[in-house]
Amino acid sequence: MSLPVVVSPIPGPRSLAMYEREQESIAPGLQSVTQWARVCFSHGEGAALYDLDGNTILDFMAGIGVASIGHAHPTWQAAVATQAGKLAAGGFTSESRVRLLESLRGLLPPELSRMQFYSGGAEAVEAALRLARCATQKSMVLGFWGGYHGKTDGTRPLSEGEQVGYGLPTPGVVSVPYADPRYSPFAGPDLVERTIDFMREHVLHGTNRDIAAVIVEPVQGRGGNVVPPPGFLHAVKEAAHELGALFICDEMITGFYRTGPAFAFMHDDATPDILIMGKGFGNGFPVSGVVTTEEISRAEPWGKPSGNSSSYGGNALACAAGAATIEVLREEQLGANAVEVGGRMLRRLRQLVERSPLVADVRGKGLLIGIELNREGRPLTREELKEIFLQLLSRGLLVMPSGSSLRINPPLVLSNEEADAGCEILEEVLVGVRVGAEV
Ligand SMILES: Cc1ncc(COP(=O)(O)O)c(C=O)c1O
Repeated sequence: MSLPVVVSPIPGPRSLAMYEREQESIAPGLQSVTQWARVCFSHGEGAALYDLDGNTILDFMAGIGVASIGHAHPTWQAAVATQAGKLAAGGFTSESRVRLLESLRGLLPPELSRMQFYSGGAEAVEAALRLARCATQKSMVLGFWGGYHGKTDGTRPLSEGEQVGYGLPTPGVVSVPYADPRYSPFAGPDLVERTIDFMREHVLHGTNRDIAAVIVEPVQGRGGNVVPPPGFLHAVKEAAHELGALFICDEMITGFYRTGPAFAFMHDDATPDILIMGKGFGNGFPVSGVVTTEEISRAEPWGKPSGNSSSYGGNALACAAGAATIEVLREEQLGANAVEVGGRMLRRLRQLVERSPLVADVRGKGLLIGIELNREGRPLTREELKEIFLQLLSRGLLVMPSGSSLRINPPLVLSNEEADAGCEILEEVLVGVRVGAEV
């Protein structure tokens, strides 16, 4: 267990010097928070990050849900180092890939029996969309407002805010409102029913009705860790099938026990036709994947030899990292920990709605929590959000701001003591008069 220890300003002089050196060559466009923080981390352990100036920072960001078993977990380190000393490149059968496939089968319903691996999230999303188009021989994909599925040309039209400024978007995508209890035009007691009705109507009146897939995040991550009402996923699945489309769950963020069960579709008993996984899967090693049924996987040309392979996908090193991560997730029962520690945090942080003039809403599932910030009824400006992010960081807490929300997605090894320490800093900043005055 590591609690925040702040011994110098953050960023301190060593971090700043390294940041300035990097600025000589790095292209612009990195994550905003990295440029706001200007901090250089030397190493991590569990839920703690250590910077060059000797500060210990509690990590509620985890590389946006990537470091699921915590930084530098010894089992993961040993598996990656051992495999790196043997074989890393190539797509041939490897012991580690067989181990990974078998352990994933153990997490999934029996019908989801065919998997393929990739390196990045958007790459896996694109593979899933290609597969859906092959399997249905249809053209369009339906996504949701506020969604995020990547920055490639095929995924940008499904990612809110990523289309503007790039000219004509890749065609073939339509979007409808997500069942967002705060911001959907259908917010209210019949949110799920009205959302699904609108989805059907929109396909009927606003598209060529040739829908290959409906793609959805069980909790919208970049949207601000937005939790839809129970039953939403199941209703989306039924509507997708009525439309003759496949139901795709993008579990890049929600997968691998972050919300409790191995995958978030399990809350709603809504097994997808195609599941997309990544992030918490490799604990930092770039590995992602697509899972589907025997029948769908045979769709051509996707299922033809070389039909969906890639240079790095499923290599022995990536699979060793994935298999080790799953082993730790299961052995340390990190899904149960996510439920316990996440529930404790959610109960405590919800009190901020009453206590802080800035907090409009707190929602979450497991260790995926969103704090919605408002000021006098309006979303915070980017500058205001940056100020809050920096105030939290200066006290030794790293969180992920997004839109007008703070996203909390720490490593799943987070202890109750670490959770309490982080909540205390959040309360101090969000309730404290200092923030009220400065922001
Ligand atoms: C749900 C979801 N899908 C896809 C992606 C894209 O992943 P990547 O950044 O690895 O391309 C992300 C990234 O945050 C995501 O949250």
